[in-house]
Amino acid sequence: MSKIKIGLIGCGGVAFWAHIPILLQFDDIEVVAVCDIIKERAENAAKRLNSSYVFTDYKELIALKELDMVDICTPNYMHSAIAVDALNAGKNVFCEKPDAIAVEQVIAMKTAAEQSGKHLMVMRNNRFVPESKYAKKFIESGSCGDIYAGRCGWTRRRGIPGKGGWFTTKEQSGGGPLIDLGVHMLDLAIWLMGNPTPVTVSGSIYNKFASNETDSDSFHAGFGEVKESGVFDVEDLAIGMIRFDNGACLHVECSWASNIEKERAFVELRGDKAGLTWDWDGLAIYTENLNSLADIRPVIDRPASDIIGHTENLRHFIYDVLIGGKEPMFKPIQGVNMVKVLTALYESAKLGKEISL
Ligand SMILES: NC(=O)c1ccc[n+]([C@@H]2O[C@H](COP(=O)([O-])OP(=O)(O)OC[C@H]3O[C@@H](n4cnc5c(N)ncnc54)[C@H](O)[C@@H]3O)[C@@H](O)[C@H]2O)c1
Repeated sequence: MSKIKIGLIGCGGVAFWAHIPILLQFDDIEVVAVCDIIKERAENAAKRLNSSYVFTDYKELIALKELDMVDICTPNYMHSAIAVDALNAGKNVFCEKPDAIAVEQVIAMKTAAEQSGKHLMVMRNNRFVPESKYAKKFIESGSCGDIYAGRCGWTRRRGIPGKGGWFTTKEQSGGGPLIDLGVHMLDLAIWLMGNPTPVTVSGSIYNKFASNETDSDSFHAGFGEVKESGVFDVEDLAIGMIRFDNGACLHVECSWASNIEKERAFVELRGDKAGLTWDWDGLAIYTENLNSLADIRPVIDRPASDIIGHTENLRHFIYDVLIGGKEPMFKPIQGVNMVKVLTALYESAKLGKEISL
């Protein structure tokens, strides 16, 4: 079998701490080309990956006939343009989250995937961690009953990524912690709930830390590049409520900076037979037995890796989908619904009323 030939676009933070080490673990691929608008970064990536081609213009990379797949690790505002061009050029596309920063952009990605017949998958870190897989099986076995309500979020006490750079510039990021962190937790919650369709969204956003000197106490906050006197026109806190077509609701809360005790990422779901909490301490399932709380903490084997979710996303796309011929477990319609929810929450905050999707 010939190796899957990959082109990596965007050679910054997440490429270096996640994608490159992960791709280097796989025997059945070759990263033949790399691209970054900063040439030195592309050259460094090429050195690590032993790539033959180095580009500063992604269009030259996707024009390479031999490529089977493009891996997109650029800032958010470029995801859709690159994905659409790559799909139209006949490449399979794996893209970092968030899917896109506007609904038209994510619809264009879905349409390009359908028309080209190529696969599109956007990173869904949390679906692939062992606790999530266990929770999904537990729910699908009927053990939670009807899941009718939930809460999810990723709240940092202090942890603004790349303050002043693209992360905090609405035009390039699409928003603050909601689109950056919320996308992970909303995806996990909605996937565990069985992917109901969102119908209304309501929310509020705040920006209180733009001019404060805030030291980071988050080990996740070292992303992007800080720019002195740069732009900070996105929220640092978002709170919202989503209703779904099956009557279920989901509360979401995300912050990069907030006066709370400590950083937490969580999904809490309520079913009529059992509820569950997923967070960094593990998975807890709450039910009743003999009129008492029965608190179940499944003991789940977990590889000692901080990037297990990223690794398993890429493994699934390369080995199950491209080599194994299976359908990706991420569906482009889920990306469309995700971006609809994220952008409607911002719209609701601006207008001060609930938005119907
Ligand atoms: N899944 C996760 O856990 C996770 C974690 C961090 C970041 N991300 C996502 O990964 C993406 C990149 O984030 P990052 O932290 O690596 O940012 P970064 O700023 O460190 O890196 C982005 C790189 O893309 C390059 N770039 C910009 N425009 C480009 C273009 N048109 N063509 C080619 N290269 C271009 C930049 O020069 C930079 O080197 C973002 O979408 C972010 O949301 C995901």
